[in-house]
Amino acid sequence: MTTAIKIKDINKSYGNLQALSNVNLEIKKGEFFGLLGPNGAGKSTLIKIMAGLAHKDSGSITVLGNDVVKEPKLTKKALGIVPQEVVIDPYFNPKEALRLQSGYFGINNNEEKIDELLTALDLQDKAEAYSRNLSGGMKRRLLIAKALVHDPEIIVLDEPTAGVDVELRNSLWDYIRKLNREGKTIILTTHYLEEAETLCDRIAIMDKGEIITIDTKENLVNSIDKKIVELNLTQDIDELPTFFNKYPYEFNKERKEINIELTKDNLIKFINEVYQSELVIEDIDIASAKLEDVFLRLTNLGGDKDE
Ligand SMILES: Nc1ncnc2c1ncn2[C@@H]1O[C@H](COP(=O)(O)OP(=O)(O)O)[C@@H](O)[C@H]1O
Ligand SMILES: [Mg+2]
Repeated sequence: MTTAIKIKDINKSYGNLQALSNVNLEIKKGEFFGLLGPNGAGKSTLIKIMAGLAHKDSGSITVLGNDVVKEPKLTKKALGIVPQEVVIDPYFNPKEALRLQSGYFGINNNEEKIDELLTALDLQDKAEAYSRNLSGGMKRRLLIAKALVHDPEIIVLDEPTAGVDVELRNSLWDYIRKLNREGKTIILTTHYLEEAETLCDRIAIMDKGEIITIDTKENLVNSIDKKIVELNLTQDIDELPTFFNKYPYEFNKERKEINIELTKDNLIKFINEVYQSELVIEDIDIASAKLEDVFLRLTNLGGDKDE
């Protein structure tokens, strides 16, 4: 596979704040790549440098082999960037805004693509509406459409679903997935970890301006040795057998429900212990670690998420 984006030793500071330190990242053509990290990690700054909207202190970024500073025209054509902040010109309706945006890329007759985008992003009814009358979610979708009018090879979405409702989020992802199947490279930042877990093949986790890990989603999730078991009992009991004391558990007597956290090795031992005990099990549910567990462990966020 060839390289879509190569980020090499990027440093960026705002005054005393080191927003990015020695960031290295290589994204292959055709990947669906996730860039995750808590607020302030530096994700948007990195994307702005890629887009030519912010200056780096040192390092380089190439897009399909072209340097973003030396060859801005070529790299802007290859990239479709959806910024995190929604900025929409209030004087144009969505269709006009998309025509204008096509014009920036020298594309004059882009009606087919514009209609495809308006339909895919469910903006067809609003095609002629004043932009100032669009809801927040609609404006965000228009921003996505704007980034795609020139049919870029690489699509970078910076928190694209913030403020978009669940239904539209799903249709948006169907469309982005289709573009990825057609060969487009997708880079997504999101703080909805489930979204990244469902969509992305490879994930980089950033914190405080540094990349702390890059791996496939499977490897990241498998790196956490954790199984969460939920047991539902048939009988009413006051106390659990003593073997439970070896594990961290919660017992809800009224609901006859036990939640217990185990390692992969302990899981089999535990199941055997339950089997040999007097407990009568009505239902059992075993869940593996999630991307969220990896994220929390690596970013030391612990319980203090902002959601
Ligand atoms: N224009 C700016 N001026 C000063 N500080 C900034 C500016 N943009 C971002 N920062 C700071 O840089 C850090 C990284 O921000 P950002 O790239 O937006 O992170 P993320 O997108 O991961 O939330 C944060 O501490 C943020 O406050
Ligand atoms: Mg951001």
